[in-house]
Amino acid sequence: MTSIPPMPENRIFSGIQPTGNLHLGNYLGAIRNWVTLQDNFESIYCVVDLHAITVPQDPKALRQSTREVAASLLAAGISPERSILFNQSCVPQHSQLAWVFNCIARLGWLNRMTQFKEKAGKNRENATVGLYSYPTLMAADILAYRATHVPVGEDQKQHLELTRDIAQSFNMAFDVPFFPLPEPQIFGSATRVMSLRDGNSKMSKSDASDNSRINLTDDADLIAQKIRKAKTDPDALPSEAAGLAGRGEAQNLVGIYAALADSDVDAVLSEFGGRGFGDFKPALADLAVSRLAPMGARMRALLANPGDIDAILADGAARAEAIAAPIIDQVNDIVGFLGAGNR
Ligand code: TRP
Repeated sequence: MTSIPPMPENRIFSGIQPTGNLHLGNYLGAIRNWVTLQDNFESIYCVVDLHAITVPQDPKALRQSTREVAASLLAAGISPERSILFNQSCVPQHSQLAWVFNCIARLGWLNRMTQFKEKAGKNRENATVGLYSYPTLMAADILAYRATHVPVGEDQKQHLELTRDIAQSFNMAFDVPFFPLPEPQIFGSATRVMSLRDGNSKMSKSDASDNSRINLTDDADLIAQKIRKAKTDPDALPSEAAGLAGRGEAQNLVGIYAALADSDVDAVLSEFGGRGFGDFKPALADLAVSRLAPMGARMRALLANPGDIDAILADGAARAEAIAAPIIDQVNDIVGFLGAGNR
C-alpha cells in the first residue's frame, strides 16, 4: 500500500469553465486573485472541461476554449512552474472520485442547488444527469487533492458548502478523518464588473452587444473605444462612495478604475470627485489599456503556438495526477475496493 500522503496545510484548488470570450469581469473577479494566491499557497488551477459537457458542446469549440482559457490564465500571470495548470479531463481521478461522491451525496442535498435550478430552467426533465451531479464532480475536483482553500465567487459558495458536507459525510461514514473541510477563500478585492451598457446587469460573455464587455483579447484601440462608448449619466462624479448609490453605470466604471489601479473607490473619488465623465473616461481608458492590452498581446502570442499551451497543460496534468493518484488509491481502499490497497 502506498503510504498515506500527509494532509496539506495550504493547498488551493480552483476551477474555471472553458468558455470563449473571457472578459474583464472574469479577470477582476477571479483570475487576478488566482495570480496573487500563487505566492502564498500551493496552487492547483484547473480548466474544467468535464463540467463543460454538462451542457452540449461542440468538440472543436471545446478544445479551442480550453486553450483560450489556459492562455488567458498564463497571460494574466499564472506561472506554470509555481502553480499547477491543467485541464480536468486529463486527470482521471476527478471522475473516479466523483463516482464515489455520487454515492455519498443525497438527492435532497442536490435538489437544493440553485445553480442547477437556474441552468436547467423550466424543462428540468430534459437536463442531463451530469448537470444535476455537477456539484459532486466539483467536490471531487477539490478533494482529490485534499485542498484546504478554494477561491470562489459568491455564486459558488453553495457548491463549496456541499463539498464540505460531502467531505464530512465521507469521514463519518468510514470513521476516518481523511478529507479536510475546505474553506472558501473570498477576496476583499474581488470586483463585480457590470455591463458597460447597463450598470445593473453583470458583464457577460453571452450579452448580444460586444460593446457591453471588454474581452481579454481586445486590442488597445478597441478597449479605449468601448470605454468611450460606455453608458453614463450626465452628472459629475461624487466625492464619496455613498454618492454613487442608484448610479449603476458610474459605480461600475469607478469600481473598474479602482480595481485596475489596485486602489479603492474612495481614493478614486477623492481624485475625480466633482469632475464629469469627459475627464474620467479618458483616464479610465488609459489605465485600462495600460493594464489590459499587454495581457491581450501575450494571450494572442500564446494562442499562435497552441502546441506550447498543450505541453504546459500536459505537464500540469502529470503533476496533478502525481498528487491525486495516491489520494484516490487511499479512498478506494477506505471504501473497500479490492486491490486498491496493493498499488
Ligand atoms: N463551478 C465553478 C464555476 O462555475 C468551476 C469549478 C469547477 C470550480 N470545479 C471547481 C471552482 C472547483 C472551484 C473549485 O465557476
